[in-house]
Amino acid sequence: MPLRKLSGLDTMKLDGKKVLVRADFNVPMKDGVILEDSRIKKVIPTIEFLLKHGAAVILLSHLGRPKGKVVEELRLGPVQKRLSEYLKMEVKKTNDCVGIEAMNAKKGLKPGEVLLLENTRFYLAETENLRPFAGELANDCDLFVQEAFGTVHRAHASTEGVAHFLPAVKGFLVEKEVKMLKSGFEHPKHPLTLVIGGAKIDTKIGVIRNFLPVADTILIGGGLANTFLYAKGFEIGQSLCEKDKAEIAQHILMEAGENKCRILLPKDVVVTKEEVSDHAKRENVPVQDVYEDNKILDIGEDTIKRFTEVIKESKMIIWNGPLGLFEYAPFAEGTKRVAEAIRDAKNAVTLLGGGDTVEALRKFDIPEESFTHVSTGGGAMLEFLEGKVLPGLAVLKEQLTME
Ligand code: 3PG
Repeated sequence: MPLRKLSGLDTMKLDGKKVLVRADFNVPMKDGVILEDSRIKKVIPTIEFLLKHGAAVILLSHLGRPKGKVVEELRLGPVQKRLSEYLKMEVKKTNDCVGIEAMNAKKGLKPGEVLLLENTRFYLAETENLRPFAGELANDCDLFVQEAFGTVHRAHASTEGVAHFLPAVKGFLVEKEVKMLKSGFEHPKHPLTLVIGGAKIDTKIGVIRNFLPVADTILIGGGLANTFLYAKGFEIGQSLCEKDKAEIAQHILMEAGENKCRILLPKDVVVTKEEVSDHAKRENVPVQDVYEDNKILDIGEDTIKRFTEVIKESKMIIWNGPLGLFEYAPFAEGTKRVAEAIRDAKNAVTLLGGGDTVEALRKFDIPEESFTHVSTGGGAMLEFLEGKVLPGLAVLKEQLTME
């Protein structure tokens, strides 16, 4: 019997099947109230498709990092409620993701019904990707659908382990994420600009490196820029900076030259001497005029103008990470104006993502629909753009089925 690669979800026989869907319902929550639900909303088409084609849907997700213990605030009750609202039907839920209750609920689930299992990270076996635990999650199911793009960089039982027990395919959201995020490398449009910010250089180095041969320009802001400024010998005062990464930053600047990729760092910055708050006094200074008692908290006006001009000329823009401490009014201008410039780049393909970036859009009232694609991934988006092998995707590629 010849073997063939499993293809998409839309080619699978679903009628009467029990389909295990790993979603990423790790949404920001405060006092049981969901603050932002795009990760829930974006999985709805896949669930509806499965229901329409006669499947019973069993949903899996983690929430937060409970480290193998039951944490009451990290139960998925609010997610169950939101899912019910979007699907306009009852969504059943168990208080555990394995054990008798989960087993019986899975057994009794009928086509057209939806069941949400409790937070998988209440067990250490989840993050340790223990096979018996993965087997129990997969028990009584016929197919696994990977729909948790935000978590595909984790080799956990519910993202990777289960796929060793069941035929496994990508869900529509994961399909779209992969297609869109790959497009920067496979179908680049020039001028291509990578805008990169956020606090840490660590998680961004790989992405910058991977883009050096593809991008025409890389715009660097946020805490990340301070490390580059420090590496170039500028005073950065009390600013966030990873001094031990200065050498890496120097290398990247050198490699950029070899790749004919232009890296633009801030020429001027917004600093404060005060405690960070919504009322802190801000000062816009050239980078050479930062003093020992200053904290750099945003890109300055000239830099905003320069960055937004580059964005305006671009045909493809990829953005991850805020350019300043946008949570506080005096330091939000850089991120806001760059976000608006990307929104207004109507002739460009615009791809963005990351928890803080999405949070910034929300703060500045910029709808996600203004962009070509807003990723549900934070770390996953970065690792994908870095070109790393993501376990939750790699395991799908190994899947073969009989003709
Ligand atoms: C995320 O929010 O980035 C994902 O849900 C993964 O969460 P984690 O970093 O706790 O694994």
